[in-house]
Amino acid sequence: MNILFMGPPGAGKGTQAEVIVGTFGIPHISTGDAFRLAIKQGTPVGLKAKEYIDQGLLVPDDVTVGIVRERLQQPDCEKGFLLDGFPRTLSQAEALEELLSEQGRSLDHVINLKVDRDKLLARLTGRRICRNCGTTYHVIFNPPKQEGVCDKCGGELYQRSDDNEESVGTRLDEYINKTAPLLKFYEVKGLLREVDGEQEIGTVSEEIVSLLRG
Ligand code: AP5
Ligand code: ZN
Repeated sequence: MNILFMGPPGAGKGTQAEVIVGTFGIPHISTGDAFRLAIKQGTPVGLKAKEYIDQGLLVPDDVTVGIVRERLQQPDCEKGFLLDGFPRTLSQAEALEELLSEQGRSLDHVINLKVDRDKLLARLTGRRICRNCGTTYHVIFNPPKQEGVCDKCGGELYQRSDDNEESVGTRLDEYINKTAPLLKFYEVKGLLREVDGEQEIGTVSEEIVSLLRG
């Protein structure tokens, strides 16, 4: 199954991806996670991406498409994949069509998580992530049992450097200007399905699973 998650920053793409990849046994491809790993490792891609990410701007298309091209060629993607955070521009969407058609496949589902802009700032500034296993929490909406400590592995929780008010404002503007127009691109292809992302985390997961099992 080849799935794409869309939605603004903070809509819950990463949170839901954890559930869906577990349920369907497919790899999770997040360009944001790939950039954060490259930054941590200090690679040339990481150094370039950091300038953009910290400001909340999109990383240039050529860098981003290169990462996804490489990832989709890995053997574990043969059984399907869940793309999260890519494509984010029309040019990335066209590049993805091309990459997939070269491999003789296409997207099966595009799920758009809908959340109002006024809810997103609170979600993003309250987000905490496990440094060790990557599990996402929220200080109010999805708190760990012990403050600052991951329930799953006991790892330390941290806040992303772009989860501050200023970067979040820019990320939301980038989404409106460059990414939201893609919804139409997938709607005319008959692939787009909308899910109300303002419901409880578990309810959102159930809705997505039932759409995918359709
Ligand atoms: P990326 O890492 O993709 O970030 P994003 O799209 O901004 O999305 P987020 O990870 O912030 O949000 P999410 O929807 O995954 O929400 P989450 O589940 O964590 O990209 C980061 C940067 O990398 C970009 O700004 C850009 O610079 C660069 N980049 C990445 N891809 C690129 C591309 N293709 N092209 C160019 N540049 C690119 O949830 C958020 C919070 O809400 C959490 O705390 C969670 O616990 C909570 N929450 C989740 N669901 C619910 C719920 N139902 N109710 C209440 N709280 C909830
Ligand atoms: Zn953990």
